[in-house]
Amino acid sequence: MQATSGARDEPTSVAASFDPEHLPAAFFEDPYPTYRWLRERDPVHRCPDGSLFVTRYADLDTVYRDRTHFSSDKKLAFGPKFGPGTPLYEHHTTSLVFNDDPYHARVRRQIAGALTPNALKAMTPAVTTLIERLGDALAAKGRFDLIEDFAAAIPVEVIGNLLGVPREERGPLRAWSLAILGALDPALSAEQLARGQRAVTEFLSFTKALVDDRRRHLRGDDDLLSRLIRDETGGALLSETELLHNCIFLLNAGHETTTNLIGNALVLLLTHDEERARLMTDPTLDASTVEECLRYESSNQLGNRFVSAAVSLAGVELAPGEYLTLCIGAANRDPERFPDPDRFDIGRAPNPHLGFAAGGHACVGMSVARLEGQLAVGPLLRRFPTLSLAGTPIRGRRARFRGFRSIPATLA
Ligand code: HEM
Repeated sequence: MQATSGARDEPTSVAASFDPEHLPAAFFEDPYPTYRWLRERDPVHRCPDGSLFVTRYADLDTVYRDRTHFSSDKKLAFGPKFGPGTPLYEHHTTSLVFNDDPYHARVRRQIAGALTPNALKAMTPAVTTLIERLGDALAAKGRFDLIEDFAAAIPVEVIGNLLGVPREERGPLRAWSLAILGALDPALSAEQLARGQRAVTEFLSFTKALVDDRRRHLRGDDDLLSRLIRDETGGALLSETELLHNCIFLLNAGHETTTNLIGNALVLLLTHDEERARLMTDPTLDASTVEECLRYESSNQLGNRFVSAAVSLAGVELAPGEYLTLCIGAANRDPERFPDPDRFDIGRAPNPHLGFAAGGHACVGMSVARLEGQLAVGPLLRRFPTLSLAGTPIRGRRARFRGFRSIPATLA
């Protein structure tokens, strides 16, 4: 089967009155016809709440790279969304991703300094062993969930190792991460909000214990947490609050996004026979497969920026204070940038997708995510040629983080 998601659908009324805060169920199954309609007819779409929804590749690329006119500082947006002074507000407004320089640059330098090519090389054997062990467990079960029993187990191990979280304490990390990042979705129920607030409070006391212990037993240069505590760049030390929230952000950032990358990739390959057959016989396609999955079903679909100085974007005059949602999922299917964009092609080259954004805030963990994807997806499919879906995968139904809650599968 060679799916061309949404390529021939007629424009829908959903697209014409598109409101990211009120999305119908069909949108979550396949948002791409709506994105195509917006890209072609209303690429800087004014939403009912006054914010703008941007869908063309060239416009996203411009915004991500222009830090003079566009700001990542979200204090203005998160006050009304989370309530000023609440745990979610404090967390999201303190993490590097939602700040501008110089604070952003100070934290980013420390993290990037720990994710060197050598550090990645050192991670590889543990990830390979974990994936083999997970494969053994799948073989023993015969029928399983590719999210719960495979994809979700990989990032927790990698990020846990990176920050030196004791293995026996990693249990609650995934649920906290889902609750905290889930609270970033455009539409938020009272229950989701309460869950997110609770998760920040619990995660803070967990991280404080971890940091207190590491302060007493500082480790070497390759330990990310020790680097954040020491700050060897000569800059001011992070305050306790800054340190804790950025550790939480790191634990979260690499979690659901990477789980979804692996889950989305497996579903794509299990439903595209020709592409799967190519990957089965050619392991040199492992890297480009991961890139194509990041493009075709971006696990992080939305980003945001504030306009900080008047500027024109695609002919639309933007005033300071305007709020933009950058639709990575739409930009990555833009025919102006990708020939035949609705075709899933694991050998696509070049593939300059925006799955990790671009510019000064581009994902600092992208090489970690790529490593996990490359070690997980191709090797699993080649190890188990009979792997197949055992039911309909269940989507997470989130606009920002696109992925599956559950992927029933079997080796029969
Ligand atoms: C497939 C997996 C991943 C995807 C799709 C992804 C996507 C992204 C995107 C789109 C951004 C930019 C956000 C913005 O500025 O609007 C970002 C930032 C970031 N990501 Fe990732 N990410 C992934 C995995 C990871 C991992 C594994 C880590 C940590 C090891 C990580 C750490 C970060 C950090 C710290 C930032 C903030 C960078 C900054 O503001 O300068 N991410 N990520």
